[in-house]
Amino acid sequence: MNKESIFDLITWYQKNKRDLPWRHTKDPYKIWISEVMLQQTRVETVIDYYNHFIEELPNITELSLIKEERLLKLWEGLGYYSRARNLQKCAKILVSQGKENLPNQRKELLSLPGIGKYTAGAILSIAYMQEEPAIDGNVIRVLSRIYKEKRDFLNKNVKEEYTNLLKALMKDFPSDDFTQSFIELGALICLPNGTPKCTECPLQSVCQAHQTKEEANYPIKKKKNPRKVVLKTVFVYTYEGTYQIQKRKEELLHGLYEFPSIDKEINNMEEYLQQHSIKYQRIQYLGEYKHIFSHIEWHMKAYQIDLIEKNSKKYATKEELIKKYSIPTAFQRILKSIKE
Ligand code: ADE
Repeated sequence: MNKESIFDLITWYQKNKRDLPWRHTKDPYKIWISEVMLQQTRVETVIDYYNHFIEELPNITELSLIKEERLLKLWEGLGYYSRARNLQKCAKILVSQGKENLPNQRKELLSLPGIGKYTAGAILSIAYMQEEPAIDGNVIRVLSRIYKEKRDFLNKNVKEEYTNLLKALMKDFPSDDFTQSFIELGALICLPNGTPKCTECPLQSVCQAHQTKEEANYPIKKKKNPRKVVLKTVFVYTYEGTYQIQKRKEELLHGLYEFPSIDKEINNMEEYLQQHSIKYQRIQYLGEYKHIFSHIEWHMKAYQIDLIEKNSKKYATKEELIKKYSIPTAFQRILKSIKE
C-alpha cells in the first residue's frame, strides 16, 4: 500500500460509509462506548444498545454512579458482561481522579481496565485525531489479504509490524477516517465468508491475494479447539404468576439472573421432583435450547413446573424479569416460551 491507495480508500469511505450514530460525535466517551460494544457484537445489534446507553449514561460521571444491576440490564443481550463492568471500573477511576472524560495519552488509556491496544487506538485516532492505528478483526482481514500474510496476527511482533506500517501511512490523512475506512472496507467489501466484493474494492490493485485469486485463503485460519458441550436441565418454577430466579455465582455470566438448572439431563422429571420433595401441580416441557459461548455450548432442556407451595428463593413477575433483572440471552428464549 502507498499514499495513493490510502487516498483511494478514504475517498471510497467518505462516499460509501454507513450512517452510524457514533459517527456523529467526537466525544471520546461516546466513541469508547461504541468501540467496546462493537467488540464481539454486530453493528446492526449495537446501534440500539448504543443509543439507549448514551441516553441514560451520557458521560463518565453518570456511568460511574449507576447501580451495577441497572448497568447489566442496559447491557443485557450484548454478552461478554465483563466489558460493561470494566467500563464502570474505568469511569470510577477517572472520576476519582477528577477527570471528565477519557485521557488522550496512549499509556494512560492502556493502564485502564478493559482498554487494550485496539480500543486505545480507536479512541485516540477517531476522537482525538492522533496517529494511532487500531487493528481489529476487520483490519486484520484486509491487511492479511493485501500482503498475503501467513503469520498469525496474535503474534505480538506481527501486530507491531503492521501497527508501524499503518502509523507511517496515516500521517497525511485524517486519523478518524483512516481508522474507520479500514474497518468499513472489512465490513462492506473485504467480507469474511463467501465472496469478497473485490470488483468494488478501492484497494484491488494493491491486493496481493486478489492478484492470485486467493482472497478466500486469507487470513490463515487456525484450527480452533472444539467447544465443550454441557447438557443442562432448566427449571422454570412458577408460583402464582411469579418465577423463581437466582443470581449466578459462576464466573460465566457472573451476577446475572437465571432460572435454576443442573448440568445433566433428567430422564424422569416427576421422579426428580419427588426425590427433592418439590410439591408441584403440573410439569410442562418447554423444549430444547442451544446457546453457544466462545468456549462452551449449553444444550438445554427446559421444563415449566407449577408449584403448589413457594420456597424461600427469589421469585419475580414476568414484568420484573423483562424490566428489572438482567437475564442472559441463553435464558431469554426460555423466558419467551413460558406458558402463562
Ligand atoms: N467496528 C469496530 N469499530 C467500528 C466503527 N467505528 N464503526 C463501524 N464498525 C466498527
